[in-house]
Parts: sequence; C-alpha cells; structure tokens
Amino acid sequence: MSILLTGGAGYIGSHIAVELLAAGYDAVVLDNLKNSSAAVIGRIERIAGKRPAFYQGDINDSDALRRVFGENDIDCVIQLAGLKSVPESAAKPLDYYRCNVGGLLTLLEVMAEKSVKRVVFSSSATVYGSSGEIPYTESTPTGCTNPYGRTKLMCEEILRDCAAADAEFSAVLLRYFNPIGAHPSGLIGEDPQGVPNNLMPYISRVAVGALEKLTIYGGDYPTRDGTGVRDYLHVVDLAKGHVRAVGYAAQHTGARAFNLGTGKGVSVLEMVRAFERASGVKVPYVIGERRAGDIAEYYADASLAQKELGWRAELSLDDMCRDTWNWQKSNPHGYEG
Ligand code: NAD
Ligand code: WQD
Repeated sequence: MSILLTGGAGYIGSHIAVELLAAGYDAVVLDNLKNSSAAVIGRIERIAGKRPAFYQGDINDSDALRRVFGENDIDCVIQLAGLKSVPESAAKPLDYYRCNVGGLLTLLEVMAEKSVKRVVFSSSATVYGSSGEIPYTESTPTGCTNPYGRTKLMCEEILRDCAAADAEFSAVLLRYFNPIGAHPSGLIGEDPQGVPNNLMPYISRVAVGALEKLTIYGGDYPTRDGTGVRDYLHVVDLAKGHVRAVGYAAQHTGARAFNLGTGKGVSVLEMVRAFERASGVKVPYVIGERRAGDIAEYYADASLAQKELGWRAELSLDDMCRDTWNWQKSNPHGYEG
C-alpha cells in the first residue's frame, strides 16, 4: 500500500517516510524542493533500507499530481507541502494562501479524480486563539493571529467540508505543537535556510558556532521563569503519530482533529539548560524584547490522540536535545555540506 507524502523531503516529512517504511508501507514523495534538498531521499534510504519513490513537483501542478497518482497505487495522502514561516506569511500573504490553501484545493481535486479519499493533514497548534485556557484541547476555541495560521484553519475547514460532502471521505487533522529533534542516526534533521526563526535550530546554530548568541524574546512573561513556555515534541514521536493516523484514516470516515504534543510545557531557559546538558556546549544568550505575536504559555492536552490513535509521545527533552545536537554537529552545513 503506497502513501503519498507531499512535502516529504522536508523536515517532518522525511522522518515520516522513515517510519512509514519501517511499518511496511511504500512511501512516495512529491516535493518541489523549495525548502529541502533531494539529498534527503538517499538519507531516508540509508536509514530505512528502502528508497521512497521521488517526484520533484508542485502540489499546485495538477499534471504533476496526476502523474504521481497514475504511476502509484496511492491509498492515502499525507499533506505536508507548504510554506511555514509566520513572519514571511505576514509579508507575503498571497504566496501563503496560493501555496497552502490553493495547493490543498489542487491536491483534493486530483484526489477526487483518482478516487483517493484518505488524507492526513499537517495542521498546527497555531490554529488556537490566544485566549484559550491551557492545556489546549481540540475544543479550545480557534482564532489565528497571522496569515500562516489562517491558512491552516482554512485548510481544516475545507477538509471538513469535503468529509461532509462525501460519506467515504476521511481526513485526519493533526495539530502539531513544537516539533524539534532529529533522527537518532544523525542522517536527517531540520535544515532551515538562512537565520532560523525557531528556537531549537537557533540554539543548535549558536552551539555549533554559526551564530554568536541566542536572543531570548522576553524575560517578563507571567511564567515560572519569565520566558515563554511551549510543548516541544520529538520529530520521531510526531512521525509515529502519522503512521497511527494513516491506520485511523483507513478505519474511520469524517474529519477529526488531534493534538500531537507531550502535554508538558518547557520554558526557553529550561530548553537552553537542557541543550547545554545534552551537548556539553555553553549557549550564550541575552534577554531581549518580547517578539510580536508571541503567547506566554501553551501546551497540549494530547489525551484524545492517546485514546483514539493509540499514540503518545515517548521521547524526553534530553532525547530531543541529544538528537538535535547529533544532527547539527554531524551536518554543520545541513544537507548541502
Ligand atoms: P519543511 O519546509 O521542512 O517541509 C515542507 C516541504 O514542502 C519542503 O520540503 C518544501 O520544499 C515542500 N513544499 C513547499 N511548498 C510546496 C509546494 N507548493 N509543492 C510541493 N512541495 C512544497 O517544513 P516542516 O517543518 O517539515 O513542515 C511540514 C508541514 O508541517 C508544513 O505544512 C508545516 O506548516 C506543518 N507544521 C510544521 C510545524 C513546525 O514547527 N515545523 C508545526 C506545525 C505544522
Ligand atoms: C518558541 C519559544 C519564542 C526564537 C512557531 C510557529 C508555529 C509552529 C511552531 C508551524 C517562544 C522563543 C524563539 C528565538 C526565543 N510552526 N524564542 N528566541 O513561536 O512557539 O511556534 O513554530 O506551524 O506556528 O509560530 O516557536 O520556536 O519560534 O518559539 O526566545 O530566537 O522560543 O519567543 O517562546 P513558536 P518558536
């Protein structure tokens, strides 16, 4: 049975490909390589002992999609392809709507042509509004503060409408909290272009000497040490959640959202200390201004995923830091190195 991973050459998709192959599925990757490298396919093969089929193409290109569906017996699509930078989405909203929302529409149209009715969608904790009580459950009110988040919410609504219109349609909406870490082999990991926006890749680039110091965005939040608190989860745990979601989609119709997180909040300062412990490297930092749009604290209630998908995050913060460091120091220049 083949699973199509759109955006499968990226950070999360490459880890999902490894776990799908390990679980006995065939994996097909479609990616335009806008934010990834073709080198990742060989790395996936080295870990899994099996090579995913790879197509370089865009989810907004219906002919490219038709070719992929025509040449493979696709049972389910994991839709990861998209743009993911919050600040870039505010500067270039149309690019985000075209790629993330337009891309999903094109994909769904070709899926309908080919009678493929199962999709697992990469959503985000970003869909929750900032007024929600923590931990966030799947019924915490949604409400986004930036175009990126709105694309995720719109995609969720589109998928719900597709499920309402077709009793055989199945959509699993996975709301990821903050994925970090890398495969323990050190062969695949997060490789952002330019200066990273996110905390973990920034810390690891400081640790490897590529950046001078971390700026902590705000030290006066109403949290236990004044710095922002998030629910970081290991990307391998996240990838295993997708394997469970593919199984769930095969047995359930309708559209359903699940939080994927550990249920534990970690502050920025706690993360810096955990990384230093795992790497043995000092991470210099300064406390700066708050970053616009940031929320003080949130983390997941992931009990629904445990109950319905049989999934729970198993890896610790120390595992996340150790594996990030292993990837960063083995690949100081990412895939291009
Ligand atoms: P990533 O950028 O590493 O992976 C996305 C992949 O999609 C890249 O390989 C990119 O080249 C490809 N892509 C982009 N536009 C495309 C298009 N039009 N057609 C085909 N391929 C295209 O990002 P990631 O961190 O692996 O994220 C994967 C998905 O998970 C994204 O949808 C993202 O929004 C979502 N997500 C990520 C996070 C996170 O913190 N990393 C959190 C929540 C949700
Ligand atoms: C984490 C904490 C920062 C960088 C983002 C997206 C979200 C999702 C995951 C895709 C916060 C602090 C960060 C730095 C810092 N992505 N920080 N210095 O903002 O929780 O979530 O990525 O869906 O949509 O918004 O993650 O890693 O940027 O920040 O102090 O240089 O680290 O203020 O408290 P965030 P992050």
